[in-house]
Amino acid sequence: MNEKIKAAEQIAIKAMRDKYRSEGGKAYTLGHCMRVMRLSGRIADSPELAEREIDRESMLIAAMFHDVGREIDSENHCEAGRDFVMKELAGILDGDQLGKVAEMVKFHNRPVNTETEIIHDADLIDRCGTNLIWRVLHLSAHHRRDQRQTLEWYEREKDAWQTRWEDWAIFEITKKEIKRRADFESEFFEEMLRELECELGE
Ligand SMILES: [Fe+2]
Ligand SMILES: [Fe+2]
Repeated sequence: MNEKIKAAEQIAIKAMRDKYRSEGGKAYTLGHCMRVMRLSGRIADSPELAEREIDRESMLIAAMFHDVGREIDSENHCEAGRDFVMKELAGILDGDQLGKVAEMVKFHNRPVNTETEIIHDADLIDRCGTNLIWRVLHLSAHHRRDQRQTLEWYEREKDAWQTRWEDWAIFEITKKEIKRRADFESEFFEEMLRELECELGE
């Protein structure tokens, strides 16, 4: 890992490690941002993107801070994230790169270039699979729901949680991974109901 990324990581940890999210727990945003950074790197490496020119360093740093704004202004987290980057990363990045990274953070939900397309897709992937299950169960515990109430609530809300993320995905590698994770989610909740109903066998 290069020096700039290492220094940025320390700033990200400091900004997000003590934050608590009711649907994810302690430091959930930090973990999410770090995973989105790693997923972005993997998407960038996929053969599908071989022809694309990618400013990898700026993309990784932007991914690391893409949701930092959630802890500052949840209504306008993209803008809050951009402002955070402009202020807090000024000592690490030169003016050009600082502006670039800040713009990538601002547009992580509305991609404007290859780097933001990648961050956008990595962000979608991290919403799915065991991360979704973790958030559903964590939020239920937070609201003191029992298992059955959790399933009933999930059944009512699942369209919001399990939006057709793969329809939003830009790259094929993302669509494939989201499909895999979504299938697992459905299987998990079906199994949970099956066990609550005390079914045996098939
Ligand atoms: Fe976001
Ligand atoms: Fe995110």
